[in-house]
Amino acid sequence: MFASFILTCLVFATSAFAHGVVTSPAPRRAGTQLTNVCGTGPAQVLSNDVTAPIENAVKQVSAATTADCSLFFCRGLQLADNLDLVQTFPAGTVVPMTINIRVRHIGPANVSIVNTKTQSLMGPALFSWPVFADPAAAADPPKNETSFSVTIPDLGGQCAQLGACSIQWWWFGSQVKQTYESCIDFVQPLDE
Ligand SMILES: *[C@@H]1O[C@H](CO)[C@@H](O)[C@H](O)[C@H]1NC(C)=O
Ligand SMILES: *[C@@H]1O[C@H](CO)[C@@H](O)[C@H](O)[C@H]1NC(C)=O
Repeated sequence: MFASFILTCLVFATSAFAHGVVTSPAPRRAGTQLTNVCGTGPAQVLSNDVTAPIENAVKQVSAATTADCSLFFCRGLQLADNLDLVQTFPAGTVVPMTINIRVRHIGPANVSIVNTKTQSLMGPALFSWPVFADPAAAADPPKNETSFSVTIPDLGGQCAQLGACSIQWWWFGSQVKQTYESCIDFVQPLDE
């Protein structure tokens, strides 16, 4: 009885707090540098549930959270924890992407290339959904919400160095006011 109560709570907690994440290519995940930079509270939220809204991590910001913890840029996840995941994307590479939507929250979403040093967008979105994850479309959702491709443009040498650029998927549930992000770091070698 008690065990089934706990189980019910866990199932509810999963559906209440789990929302969305890129599943391929493998995005940045939590690691020790995240804990060093953001503190254990935010790091635990981000590692316990890779689909949790960033706002849940913001609630755990503490004195241990440093100025280098930018939760709204790549979810606060750190390149240093993800050097094994850095991809190489020459200009024109078509990158198939998949997303796991655990709970549908209507709002805009897009995929952009971001400059990880200035934490700014580089150019227009590569893919954009004016209306993403509308719960009203749950029975027959657009296929491109969970499976789509982006074409990496020629970035003119701006992404030649390790750690300069990421692909960032961004979704904002405008009614629940919750933000989801996933980042895939990459380099684009200079043409010989
Ligand atoms: C992507 O969406 C976010 C939030 O909805 C928005 O702030 C941002 O400007 C968009 N990016 C591009 C490149 O349009
Ligand atoms: C995504 O799919 C929807 C519905 O099939 C379509 O209307 C929309 O144009 C597609 N978006 C992109 C960016 O291709």
